[in-house]
Amino acid sequence: MKIIVTGGAGFIGGNFVHYMLNKYKAYDIICLDALTYAGNMETLAPVQNNPKFKFYKADITDRLAVYEIFEKEKPDIIVNFAAESHVDRSIDNPGIFLQTNIIGTGVLMDACRKYGITRYHQVSTDEVYGDLPLDRPDLFFTETTPLHTSSPYSASKASADLLVQAYHRTYKLPVTISRCSNNYGPYHFPEKLIPLMIINALADKELPVYGKGENVRDWLYVEDHCSAIDLIIHEGKVGEVYNIGGHNEKTNLEVVKIILKELGKSEDLIKYVTDRPGHDMRYAIDPTKIHHELGWLPATKFEDGIKKTIKWYLDNKEWWQHIINGEYKDYYAKHYSKK
Ligand code: NAD
Ligand code: DAU
Repeated sequence: MKIIVTGGAGFIGGNFVHYMLNKYKAYDIICLDALTYAGNMETLAPVQNNPKFKFYKADITDRLAVYEIFEKEKPDIIVNFAAESHVDRSIDNPGIFLQTNIIGTGVLMDACRKYGITRYHQVSTDEVYGDLPLDRPDLFFTETTPLHTSSPYSASKASADLLVQAYHRTYKLPVTISRCSNNYGPYHFPEKLIPLMIINALADKELPVYGKGENVRDWLYVEDHCSAIDLIIHEGKVGEVYNIGGHNEKTNLEVVKIILKELGKSEDLIKYVTDRPGHDMRYAIDPTKIHHELGWLPATKFEDGIKKTIKWYLDNKEWWQHIINGEYKDYYAKHYSKK
């Protein structure tokens, strides 16, 4: 079995590469990644010398480069993680989100049609469903919840999902789609809430909480996302969408306070800053379908996962210090000085 993992130098893709090489010793795992600001070869350092792993630096919007890789490797399965993934950046600069997330998805599926594959899996997000009100805790996103997006990021991901479903219906491409809630864990880029708060707290820097910190996210440990995708690509039904989430809803303020408590830091570090425009209030996944059809359940509770994550950031300071001392420094200064 040969699997191309696009975006494998990023947070979830990198964890998926590690997970698959560890679990399936006979599989060939090929990473295709453009190494944007979010891609990091240090995330792949532990597998660099694994003979079953190969890396190509390539952009999924570059049709010629993608076709060349497919021609040479003849993959069985494609798992597409490659994306521009940060909502705040999509608000500042939507164009690149349309390019990578929509056009790039189209190029990958054209390559699948041209060279033939057994499965194309699209890694999507719960953000395609929009948000839920805080005063209706009884509501959850199911696979039939209408798409209703808020940010250029989520709109680009929803567009890609529609394209994937169109390629299935029109060309019979054997596709699956998963829509997952917020992930956390090792190798998470420091622009995202949990790693940002851990790293700032360690340096006794302010923790910038958007608005009142009352927005709710449904947190899933990244390894649980990997195990769900593993099940879907092997046993999921072609043409189907699967929601992935573990009923781990927390307000942003709750998450930030848990991190401060774990690190023994004062809540005085919290600074309420200008809210994100169009900020989604609550995401909450109903994972009944993947549980009933494929037997998937998350293995890690938030209380344990957050401890493991904090420990990872304490044990791997070099990994994130290289990032925060690089071009990310300019992004941070520019983004948070406006808040
Ligand atoms: P990330 O930003 O950490 O990583 C994205 C990776 O894609 C990077 O390695 C980057 O170099 C690569 N990439 C970007 N543009 C590319 C291009 N044009 N060609 C090739 N490679 C390119 O993202 P992540 O958080 O790991 O998210 C991975 C996927 O999972 C995304 O599709 C995202 O929409 C989806 N998702 C993320 C979450 C989450 O909580 N992080 C939750 C649900 C779904
Ligand atoms: O739900 C899945 C999505 O989760 C993925 O599709 C996205 O790729 C991923 O980035 C994530 O999106 P969010 O916008 O939910 O994640 P982020 O970490 O950016 O923010 C989480 C919450 O924390 C959100 O309500 C905004 C808030 N926040 C974020 C940052 C960066 C703050 O309060 N302060 C901050 O500095």
